[in-house]
Amino acid sequence: MKILVIHGPNLNMLSKRDKSIYGEKTLAQIDALLKKEARALKVEVVTSQSNHEGALVDFIQEQAGSAQGIIINPGALTHYGFSLLDALADSRLPIIEVHLSNIYRREEWRAKSIIAPITRGQISGLGWRGYVAALQVLVAELKAKPSR
Ligand code: DQA
Repeated sequence: MKILVIHGPNLNMLSKRDKSIYGEKTLAQIDALLKKEARALKVEVVTSQSNHEGALVDFIQEQAGSAQGIIINPGALTHYGFSLLDALADSRLPIIEVHLSNIYRREEWRAKSIIAPITRGQISGLGWRGYVAALQVLVAELKAKPSR
């Protein structure tokens, strides 16, 4: 079972961005924690980050055919990335949306996710643990329902 983990713009700067909002860990550390959890769950995780919406679309188009699910933190594209939304919808894969910060406790414009309506669910505000929880839930649901 292969799960795509996709990080959007500016998430490559984790640990340099406001740590009180986004936490202390680097993106590489978060990806390493996800790969460790993936090994425990006996699944494969393929991670990708880009600051460019088109590159994220390319990645989804290239990888979705051989994957069973997607975990995505779209960064600011959460709020306006329509081509990313279309690529995610076209993948027809179950998607869990993750945000390190609680997007409902911040600026008003962050409280709207255009991605959320096509997702299985969203985890927002639980920091890096939100990614690990998303992986656990997605894999558990896929294993419970293999002929999705
Ligand atoms: C974010 C929240 C977004 O509003 C923001 O633009 C990000 C990160 C989060 O993980 O909390 O870049 O997706």
